[in-house]
Amino acid sequence: MKRILVTGGAGFLGSHLCDQLVARGHEVLCVDNFFTGRKENITHLNSHPLFEFMRHDITFPLYVEVDEIYNLACPASPIHYQFDPVQTTKTSVHGAINMLGLAKRVKAKILQASTSEVYGDPEVHPQPESYWGRVNPTGVRSCYDEGKRCAETLFFDYWRQHQLRIKVMRIFNTYGPRMHPNDGRVVSNFIVQALRGDDITIYGDGLQTRSFCYVDDLISAMIQIMDTPDNFTGPINIGNPTEFTIMALAKSVLELTGSKSRLIFKPLPSDDPRQRQPDIALAKKMLGWTPSVPLREGLERTIAYFEQRFARGPRL
Ligand SMILES: NC(=O)c1ccc[n+]([C@@H]2O[C@H](COP(=O)([O-])OP(=O)(O)OC[C@H]3O[C@@H](n4cnc5c(N)ncnc54)[C@H](O)[C@@H]3O)[C@@H](O)[C@H]2O)c1
Repeated sequence: MKRILVTGGAGFLGSHLCDQLVARGHEVLCVDNFFTGRKENITHLNSHPLFEFMRHDITFPLYVEVDEIYNLACPASPIHYQFDPVQTTKTSVHGAINMLGLAKRVKAKILQASTSEVYGDPEVHPQPESYWGRVNPTGVRSCYDEGKRCAETLFFDYWRQHQLRIKVMRIFNTYGPRMHPNDGRVVSNFIVQALRGDDITIYGDGLQTRSFCYVDDLISAMIQIMDTPDNFTGPINIGNPTEFTIMALAKSVLELTGSKSRLIFKPLPSDDPRQRQPDIALAKKMLGWTPSVPLREGLERTIAYFEQRFARGPRL
C-alpha cells in the first residue's frame, strides 16, 4: 500500500484516478480548492477508510507525508482557465514548484498531468513527443499552454538538478462521466445541448478534427506511467489517435440521445487548433498501452451519466 497525493482530485480526471487508486488498495489524499471540481465527484469516497480529502490551493505550499504525487490541479477547459488567467498560470507554475518541493522533501515520485496544448497549433501531424510545438505566448490560451510548458520545464529541471523521480504525461482530449456540464468542452457541450433540446453549437465549419479518449483508458495509462522504471521520465503522449470531425461527433451525439436539436455554426475562437492527434507509439512501446473503449461506447456511458444528473434535478 502506498500513500498517494492526488491534486485536483475532485475534478473530472482526478476523481476517477482516486477511485482507481483506492480500488487498488492505496491510501489516497485528495487535495482540491473546488475551483472547477465538485464535492459530488468524491462523495461516494468520503466514507472509504483509504480516502481523505483536504481543501487546499496548490499555489500555497503543502506539508504532507506521501510516497507518490499525481499533480492534476489546474482548470482544464478554456472557459474555466480563461476566467482568471493569472491564477491559471499561478496554479501551473507555483503549483508545480510547490508540489516538486514537496516531492523533493519527502522523496516522493511525482507525475505531472501535462497536455497536448503544449504543442499549440501544430505544423506536425500527428504530434510525437519530440515535437516542440507552436504556441502563441501572448494569446488568450497562453495562460494554460505556457503555464503547462513552464511546469514541464520545472519538472525536468528538478529531475536534472535534484534527481527527482518525475513522469510527464501529455494528455489529449479526454471525456467521460463527471465532466463539468458547463465547461464548454465539446463532448459535454454537445451532450448537454442534445439532452436539453438546445441548438448544438459547432465552432467553425465542423471539419476540424479531434481525437477523444475515454476516461477509463486514460486513467489506466496514468497509473501505468507512474509505475514505469525510475529512468523513464516521459514526456509521453496519452490519447486516442482515432480522429473524428467535430461534425461527426455532433451527429453521433444526436443519434445516441435521439435528440431533435439543430446544428448551428459560430466563428472559431482565436488560436483554436484545426487538427490534434496524438502519436502514441511511445505509449505502445513503453506501456503496451492502446485505448480500448470505442467512441460510441464511451459516448453511451457519458450520455447515461448526464441523463442521471438531469433526472436528479435541474442543478447541472
Ligand atoms: N480532460 C482533458 O481532456 C485534459 C486534457 C489535457 C490535460 N488535462 C489535464 O488534466 C488535469 C485534470 O483535468 P480535468 O479535465 O480533470 O479538469 P477539472 O477542471 O475537472 O479538474 C481540475 C481540478 O483541479 C482543481 N484545481 C484547480 N486549481 C487548483 C488549485 N490552485 N489548487 C487546488 N486545486 C485546484 C479544480 O477544482 C478541479 O477539481 C489538468 O491538469 C488538465 O490540465 C486534461
